Amino acid sequence: MSSMRPHRLFVSLISILILVSCGSEPAKFADVDSQRLLNAAATPEEWLTYGGTYDEQRHSGLDQINTDNVAQLGVAWTYDLATERGVESTPIVVDGVMYVTSAWSVVYALDAQTGRELWLYNPDVDKAVGAKACCDVVNRGVAVWKSKVYVGVIDGRLEALDAATGELVWSKVTVDQSKPYTITGAPRVVKGKVLIGNGGAELGVRGYISAYSAETGDLVWRFYTVPNPNKQPDGEVSDSALKDIGNLTWGDEGAWTTDGGGGTVWDSIVYDEVNDSVIFGVGNGSPWNRDHRDAGKGDNLFLSSIVSVDAATGAYKWHFQTTPGDNWDYTATQTIILADLPMGVEGASRRVAMQAPKNGFFYIVDATTGEYLSGEAYVPQNWAEGLDENGRPIENPEARYGDTPFMQNPGPLGAHNWQPMAFNPELKLVYIPAQEIPDYYATDRLFEARSQKWNTGTDLAAGLPMDLDLATALALRATLKGRLIAWDPIAQEARWSVEHSNAWNGGVLSTAGGLVFQGRLEGDFAAYNAATGAKLWSQNVKSGAASGPGTYEIDGQQYVTITTGWGSAYALAGGSAYDQPVPPIVGKVVTFKLGAKGAIPDPDLVMALRTPKADKFGDQAMIQLGFDKYHFNCRVCHGPLAISSGVLPDLRWSPISANVDVWQSIVLGGVLSAKGMVSFADALSPAEAEAIRAYVIKQAHDGAALEAEVAALMAAQGATP
Ligand code: HEC
Repeated sequence: MSSMRPHRLFVSLISILILVSCGSEPAKFADVDSQRLLNAAATPEEWLTYGGTYDEQRHSGLDQINTDNVAQLGVAWTYDLATERGVESTPIVVDGVMYVTSAWSVVYALDAQTGRELWLYNPDVDKAVGAKACCDVVNRGVAVWKSKVYVGVIDGRLEALDAATGELVWSKVTVDQSKPYTITGAPRVVKGKVLIGNGGAELGVRGYISAYSAETGDLVWRFYTVPNPNKQPDGEVSDSALKDIGNLTWGDEGAWTTDGGGGTVWDSIVYDEVNDSVIFGVGNGSPWNRDHRDAGKGDNLFLSSIVSVDAATGAYKWHFQTTPGDNWDYTATQTIILADLPMGVEGASRRVAMQAPKNGFFYIVDATTGEYLSGEAYVPQNWAEGLDENGRPIENPEARYGDTPFMQNPGPLGAHNWQPMAFNPELKLVYIPAQEIPDYYATDRLFEARSQKWNTGTDLAAGLPMDLDLATALALRATLKGRLIAWDPIAQEARWSVEHSNAWNGGVLSTAGGLVFQGRLEGDFAAYNAATGAKLWSQNVKSGAASGPGTYEIDGQQYVTITTGWGSAYALAGGSAYDQPVPPIVGKVVTFKLGAKGAIPDPDLVMALRTPKADKFGDQAMIQLGFDKYHFNCRVCHGPLAISSGVLPDLRWSPISANVDVWQSIVLGGVLSAKGMVSFADALSPAEAEAIRAYVIKQAHDGAALEAEVAALMAAQGATP
C-alpha cells in the first residue's frame, strides 16, 4: 500500500491540473448510469459490465476487425499484473479507461489506448485467506457506476473506489469472516444496487446473493439459496421461498445442518430488463456427497439451480434446478445468457435464459416463467441417460457412488466452468468453452467435517494410481479434452467444434466482424470464423489465456484485449499436473489492434530444479498411508500425485522435503500459515505427516525417472519438451 501513495498523490495532482487548465468540468471517470447500461449493446465502443451488456451475450457490435483483416492483428500494448497466481478478469472499458483486476483482488485503472497505469488499488488481503480459496485467489473483474468502481475482495469485502483516483469510498464485509467464505466473482450493478455473491462450498458455507446500495454500501436485500439449518426464517426476502419450496427438499439430519449446505452464488448474475428480474446461478452442495450432506436424500433446493428474483426487492419469482440432489459438484453458476429466440408459439420470439452448466447439458428456460423449453448433452457424459420432459436428469444409478470408485464424465471441474461463453444473435450460435475432465467419485466412509478445510465427503484419492509409469501417464492425459463448440440452441446440436490439445481452455468473445475469439491454457489466443470455425489468426500470449476477452473502440480504432495468467482450480487440483510443467508466470493485460507490431515480453523461466532432494524411505504401508493422507489433505493445492502445475510449490522438488523438522514445522506447526499454508495439526499426526513426506519423496524419484523417459521419447521424435 505504501508504495501506492505517490501514485495517488500524482493522480490527484493531475486531476487538479486538468480542473485548473480546463476551467470547466473535470474529466469524467466511469460516468455510468442505468441508461448507459441498458443501452450498452448500441454503444459497443465501450465494455460496460462483466458480460458486455446486461444480457451477457459477450457479443460486440464492432466490426472493424473482421474475417478479412483479422490476420493483421498485432500487439498494441501489454501491462504487467505483477502476480504469479491465477487471473480470470474481464476488463471493463469506459470513458477511455480500462478497469481490471488480478489475483488477490487488486484493481488497476489503465489508459485503454496505451496501457499506461492511472492508479492501482490493493485491498491488502491477509494471505492466510488463500487457504479458504478452493480455486485459487482469482478475481473475475469489477463493476462501474456513477464514478465508482466496485470490487468483491477474496476475504469477503465489497468495496467501492473512486473511479478517478482509486481512493476507497466505502467497504462492507459481506460474509461471516470466521467461516470459509471467499469472493471471486464480478459484482453487477442494477438500478443503483450492487449485486454480489460468494464462494466456499468446498469447505462448507451457506450460499446467498446480496444487493447493496451503490451509493452508501447499505444492505438492501439478501436471498439465501438454501434453508437455514433449523429451517427457521432468517428475516430475509428468501424466507417465503424457502418455507414454501426449499425446506421440503431437505431432511433434518446430515452435515448440511452444521456446515451450511453450499449453494453459493459465485459467478453468473444477469439482469433481465424486460421482466425486471435478477437471474443468478447457484452452486454445488456442501459436502458434495449427498449421503453425507443430507440423510433425507432430497432434491436440496436451490442447489445447482438457476433462480430468478425481483430486481428491486429480491422476492422469489422462479427457479429451474439442473441437478436435483447434487452429488458431484455440479454447479449451475456458469454463464447465463439472455436472448430472444424464435421458440414461442408458431416461431414467435421468446425471451429465454441459456446455460451450459458443469453437468454437461445445455438448457434453455423461459426467462419470464422459468419453464423448461429444451435441453441436450453438449459433451459426452455418463451420469444420466438423458433428460425427461421437465428437464430432470434420468440418472445412471452408478453415479450415486459408494465405496467403489466410479469414473464419471463430467468430473467436479465440469463440462464447462467459469470461462465465459458467448452468443452471436445474428448467427444464433452459442460458443461454449467445453471440456472433458472425467474423475473418480467414491464415498469417504470416515467423513467428518473439518474447520476451514476441504469437506467434500468424497475420497480425493479415488482411482488414482500409486505408481505412475509412462503408459498410465499417457492414458490419464488422453482422458482430458477441450474444445470450442458452436452450439445451435434451437436445434440443440453442435454446428461446428474445434478440438484443443488442452482441456482447460478459455472464455469466448463474439463480434459483428464475424469472429469468435478464444484463448487457451498454453497461451494460444485465436480468432475463428464465427460461422465455420476456421482458424483465422492466433498469437502466443506466453501465459495462460483463460479469461473472457473483450473489445472496445477509441478514436475510431478497435481493440481486442485479454488478461492472462497461470492458476485456477484446474492448475491447483485438477488435471494440469499431467501436462507440461509450467514455471511461475506473471499475469498481463494484452491488447491488440490491426497493424500493431508490439511484442509480448518473455516470461521469467525460473523453474525449481526437478530432482529428488532426499533418498527414498518408508515401507509400503507407510507410503500407502502417505498416498491417502496426501490426497485427502494436500492434493487440492499441491496437485494430484504430488505433481504441481507450478502455481504452488511442487513438493517433490522442494528442499524442505529433505528435512523432517522443517517439514513438520510447516505441515503441523503452521509456520507458513500467514502465506496460506495452514497447519494440518487438527487432521494429521506427526507420523501421518511423515508418511506424506515418504510418499512425496517416492513421487520425486518416480517423477524424475518418468520425466527422463518422456524427454528421451520426445527427443527421439524430434520435439522439444
Ligand atoms: C489451501 C491450499 C494448501 C493446502 C491444502 C496445502 N498447502 Fe502446502 N502450501 C500452500 C501454499 C500457498 C504454500 C506456499 C507458501 C509460501 O508462499 O511460502 C505451501 C507450501 C508448502 C510447503 C513449503 C514448500 C516450499 O518449498 O516452500 C510444504 C512443505 C507444504 N506446503 C506441504 C503441504 C502438505 C504436506 C499439505 C497437506 C498436508 C499441504 N501443504 C496442503 C498451500 C496449501
